[in-house]
Amino acid sequence: MSLPPTEALLRFDRVSHSFGAVEVLSELSLAVQPGEFVALVGPSGCGKTTLLNLGSGWIEPTSGRVDRPAGVRMVFQQDGLFPWLTVWDNVRLGLRHLADEAGRIRQAGVLLELIGLTAFRAHYPHQLSGGMRQRVELARALGGGTDLLLMDEPFSSVDYLTRLKLRAELARLLREQPRTVVLVTHDIEEAAQLADRVLVLSERPARIRDEVHLKVPRPRDATHPDVVAAVHRILTELGLEGDAEPPAAASRGPEIDR
Ligand SMILES: Nc1ncnc2c1ncn2[C@@H]1O[C@H](COP(=O)(O)OP(=O)(O)OP(=O)(O)O)[C@@H](O)[C@H]1O
Ligand SMILES: [Mg+2]
Repeated sequence: MSLPPTEALLRFDRVSHSFGAVEVLSELSLAVQPGEFVALVGPSGCGKTTLLNLGSGWIEPTSGRVDRPAGVRMVFQQDGLFPWLTVWDNVRLGLRHLADEAGRIRQAGVLLELIGLTAFRAHYPHQLSGGMRQRVELARALGGGTDLLLMDEPFSSVDYLTRLKLRAELARLLREQPRTVVLVTHDIEEAAQLADRVLVLSERPARIRDEVHLKVPRPRDATHPDVVAAVHRILTELGLEGDAEPPAAASRGPEIDR
């Protein structure tokens, strides 16, 4: 999507942030366009969570400027569900921005159907598996009616197979209910399968080392040549790939461009 820069939904303009003597971000600029899905990958401790916290307004930058929309929702790795509420009430609570009760009930029904947990509507979080709880968390986030979703390693606490399912689920949910997303993940394949743009960050203070664009429609197969090429390029940029020849698509252009 190429919109004029003034139409970005989230904009960082030469943002620096320090915690005491620790400089986490140094003059970082970044613009996320409406409807765009941006993934952030980078070494542990480089400043990804800090970047999301600045994006949500939870913290203010030491210097520089962050322009954010009014409605921002953060999805954390940890469980954000209310343990004393059922699945149904947890999802419904996320819909409190809808004025009329009938609309809330209808939308909660749609969301439960989307995440495949209609039969578990009366269950409490402790009666669900970790993956099911994450799905409820996703439904709540998507139902929240916010313009911008900031997700901090939302699937890192679930097993590999569940993670693959949730990834596919998120791709499908976003197709049905499009949103602007910034996702932090350590899972390079997840980034390449979901994002329109993957930003590869450096060690702290985080700089944008590389920007990988993916134009393949979602849901994307992990074996799609562009996805494979993107994974290879990101791993190389992070210094995690050996000397293996890159897949042919890596240099094929225009699907992936720097
Ligand atoms: N509230 C805080 N007070 C002091 N230092 C902090 C605070 N939050 C983060 N830091 C420091 O800022 C740096 C970046 O932390 P941050 O949590 O943003 O990293 P990250 O990229 O999200 O790492 P990870 O991938 O491990 O989650 C770290 O050195 C961390 O110790
Ligand atoms: Mg973090």
